[in-house]
Amino acid sequence: MQTLLDQIRAIVGAAHVLCEGDLSAWEQDWRKRSRGKALAVVRPGSTQEVARVVQVCAQHRAQNPSSQLSIVPQGGNTGLVVGSTPDSTGHQLVLSMQRMQAVRSIDAGNLTMTVESGCILKQAQDKAREAGFLYPLSLGAEGSCTVGGNLGTNAGGTQVVRYGNTREQCLGLEVVTAQGEVWHGLSGLRKDNTGYDLRHLYIGSEGTLGIITAATMKLFPLPVAQIGAWASLDTVEDALTLLGLAHRHLGADLTGFELMGQFPLNLVAKHFPKLRQPLELASPYFVLIESSSLSNPAQANEALESLMQAALDAACVKDVVLASSLAQSRSFWEIRETITLAQAAEGLNIKHDISVPISRIPEFVRQTDQLLAQHFEGVRVVCFGHLGDGNLHYNVQAPAGTNTEKFLQANEAQVNQVVFDAVAKFGGSISAEHGIGSLKVEHLTHYKSPVALAQMRAIKQALDPQNLLNPGRVVNCDNSSLS
Ligand code: FAD
Ligand code: MLT
Ligand code: ZN
Repeated sequence: MQTLLDQIRAIVGAAHVLCEGDLSAWEQDWRKRSRGKALAVVRPGSTQEVARVVQVCAQHRAQNPSSQLSIVPQGGNTGLVVGSTPDSTGHQLVLSMQRMQAVRSIDAGNLTMTVESGCILKQAQDKAREAGFLYPLSLGAEGSCTVGGNLGTNAGGTQVVRYGNTREQCLGLEVVTAQGEVWHGLSGLRKDNTGYDLRHLYIGSEGTLGIITAATMKLFPLPVAQIGAWASLDTVEDALTLLGLAHRHLGADLTGFELMGQFPLNLVAKHFPKLRQPLELASPYFVLIESSSLSNPAQANEALESLMQAALDAACVKDVVLASSLAQSRSFWEIRETITLAQAAEGLNIKHDISVPISRIPEFVRQTDQLLAQHFEGVRVVCFGHLGDGNLHYNVQAPAGTNTEKFLQANEAQVNQVVFDAVAKFGGSISAEHGIGSLKVEHLTHYKSPVALAQMRAIKQALDPQNLLNPGRVVNCDNSSLS
């Protein structure tokens, strides 16, 4: 492996091949579910460097067929399913995209921005705003996740109800293939029917098919007003009624609709007591609605007020606070975005990012809550998420006072089964936004149809016959079946 590392040093520079010292930032996943050991962390500075690194790795594999060398693409390492960190073999290179951060161009007339994949999401948002545009993807990890990671996982976030997932916001990609070739697909076209859409293969492939080095993303007009409203509710059915009203009253101005159970907000209050809760934590559910308007703030305020009046008249909300300033709206979002951190502070937990048809969410929650209570006495459900998209983080925390690690060891598989069986029964997906990574590979095998799995394996085999890129993630294809 020394010769290989020397070849890579010659490509990216010795300073960008890290083998010693504390590599935990690259080897440890965000949730601390797994700590691997990298052969090295390689930090290329250009698309050409990425391509040459992949070429020498592919060559090494061809010359040493039994070699376990492989490449794990990594962005900000904020993924939640252990997809961006190496395994414990010491044979995997982490290919960190951190140095490729440039915004290559902004085409105002085409409403697009071409950005390198290591660009931090927040920086992409800021650059777009400086140019007078909105880069709409928004999520709690935006200060450290990257555009490449967002594309790799097809991230959702809190604005999907208006702007779609990362996939819908992407018009073109530049990708280094598993052979080390460069696919120049940085199209800014909104319509292009020239055969298979390769872009959509790479988006959401979690680094298993190619390495995204740059992307052309859609931009939108900056809203002139963004107003948040916070409501307390008795039931998830009420939240669904409120969602229907929000669509009718706000139309395209509805940019966020988040549901939060009382328990996740209690965790925020417990671990982040400085954050002021807009309403007393005395109701089973809360909703955060965001309206973004291109017209004028007064009109936006009026529309939101009229929505809330209609909701009070329909008795689907108990109490409501309308933000009186942008700062107050942001403080609502801060509470919502802090749930993940509060849950982590409470201890290890079982995370789910499921989706079912929006109309079936209330029944899904009712039945699954009951099943979990029956099977796992005292278990605490951390239910929150993007109700406007039919996507809930239906997470499970050990009963209060129990040893979290022991609870997970003894019950994680059964808890997953209860939740995923319910998801399947309701016609849903076991991963709506975080992806499969390593954590859900076995579950995917169980819950995805054999026909779909066979097609996925065939795609992997066609694009990466050596199984060089992020093996063992998304679909299991061992080397023997591939090369
Ligand atoms: P990484 O974690 O580094 O990688 C994620 C996957 O993408 C890995 O499989 C990796 O191999 C692959 N990858 C990374 N870069 C590339 C590349 N250039 N080319 C090809 N493959 C690549 N996710 C949501 O969808 N919605 C949310 O609301 C949300 N909120 C979050 C809040 C918090 C606090 C945290 C910690 C995470 C959250 N996430 C959310 C999950 C995570 O932030 C996203 O999945 C994010 O898109 C990952 O970006 P990253 O740069 O950190 O990718
Ligand atoms: C969120 O919506 O906050 C995220 O997807 C993160 C999480 O599931 O904790
Ligand atoms: Zn989410």
